[in-house]
Amino acid sequence: MKDCYGVTMTKVRAIVSADGSAAGKVQAAMELIHDRHDLYDWIGVYVLRGDVLHLGPYAGEPTEHTAIPVGRGVCGTAVAENRNQIVDDVREVANYIACSPAVRSEIVVLIRDGEDILGQIDVDSDTVGAFDEEDEFFLTELAELLAPFIEGL
Ligand code: SME
Repeated sequence: MKDCYGVTMTKVRAIVSADGSAAGKVQAAMELIHDRHDLYDWIGVYVLRGDVLHLGPYAGEPTEHTAIPVGRGVCGTAVAENRNQIVDDVREVANYIACSPAVRSEIVVLIRDGEDILGQIDVDSDTVGAFDEEDEFFLTELAELLAPFIEGL
């Protein structure tokens, strides 16, 4: 486990247990992680409503992809296949929606409530192969911490 992940998680725990709105907590968590992790150039939460993923709090450059149908892009594929996605080089993925031409790799980790998918955490990096199983482990723990606040976004 990369050292910084444990420290980040401690800080996220403090954020989610403090007073404040669901949106405020998730926004603060996105900004914290974006600031602390050099390879995380963009991080955001998408909320699943029906068959569409809706962009929630994020940190990084604004994106025009605020609504993504299930099945489209890496994000929509994660829901359609009911599994997390790690893409080492987005240039090799046909079903990819570019948020920025600089993006090279991406990870999507589902946010769940039991068997139900509530949404997902999406992270983009301008570096090829930025994400591995440690990131998936870290983001899965983050997803568990954020799950209670997704409905309130
Ligand atoms: N690249 C994603 C779209 C979301 S943006 O990265 C923020 C995809 O292919 O689904």
